[in-house]
Amino acid sequence: MSIRLAPSILSADFAALGAAVAAAERGGADLIHVDVMDGHFVPNITVGPLVVRALKRVTHLPLDVHLMITEPDRYVDAFVEAGAAMLSVHVEVQPHLHRTLSYIRRLGVEAGVVLNPSTPVTAIEEVAGDVDFVLVMSVNPGFGGQSFIARSEAKVRAVRALLDRHASRAAIEIDGGVDLGNAARLAEAGVDILVAGQAIFGQPDPAAAVRAMREAVAGVTRPAPGAAGATGQRTAG
Ligand code: DX5
Ligand code: ZN
Repeated sequence: MSIRLAPSILSADFAALGAAVAAAERGGADLIHVDVMDGHFVPNITVGPLVVRALKRVTHLPLDVHLMITEPDRYVDAFVEAGAAMLSVHVEVQPHLHRTLSYIRRLGVEAGVVLNPSTPVTAIEEVAGDVDFVLVMSVNPGFGGQSFIARSEAKVRAVRALLDRHASRAAIEIDGGVDLGNAARLAEAGVDILVAGQAIFGQPDPAAAVRAMREAVAGVTRPAPGAAGATGQRTAG
């Protein structure tokens, strides 16, 4: 399994999103991560379905839409119609998580569940079989450019173990403070999708930054999820 890179446009120039996405694509990004914030669940406000629809027109990359909003159920249809390929909701706001995830999947979109740094891994125990990916927040959501919370690496291992126990092949995504210094370590811990905002769009040449991150994880070989001891190892050289 190769590691997927998902540049987050939160750190891009919002007056030139098309150019930002094109640069990420040129650099070899696998996904485009779109952070949706409502000013309630998190202190910041960003974008909605209109911007997802606009991005969809200018990129072939799947759009990975991360909903940091208190009432995701009200907007699932709109984001799917706008072109989201992956849609994730926070466990902290969802009393009916199973229903929401099943609904997203029925619409033909990959369903993800997100854990804040203080939310225990056990919160996803009952939906392990109902998700396509689990997003581990490694900063408190709301802003780009924050420092990686060290404990998140152990949390990734715990999520992988939980998924394995449920024979789930769901991918693990990590979001917040990912950079060239920790990318390989996180891949080894079991991360399948690395989100990076500042480390890509905060750099003078975002395409080169994507290539550098690809290079950083290139030596990590990944067994298929569910394989015995399914965390990665770095090959020699
Ligand atoms: C934070 C967002 C992230 C953010 C990550 O709430 O969910 O996707 O863009 O930014 P960096 O990589 O700069 O920490
Ligand atoms: Zn995000």
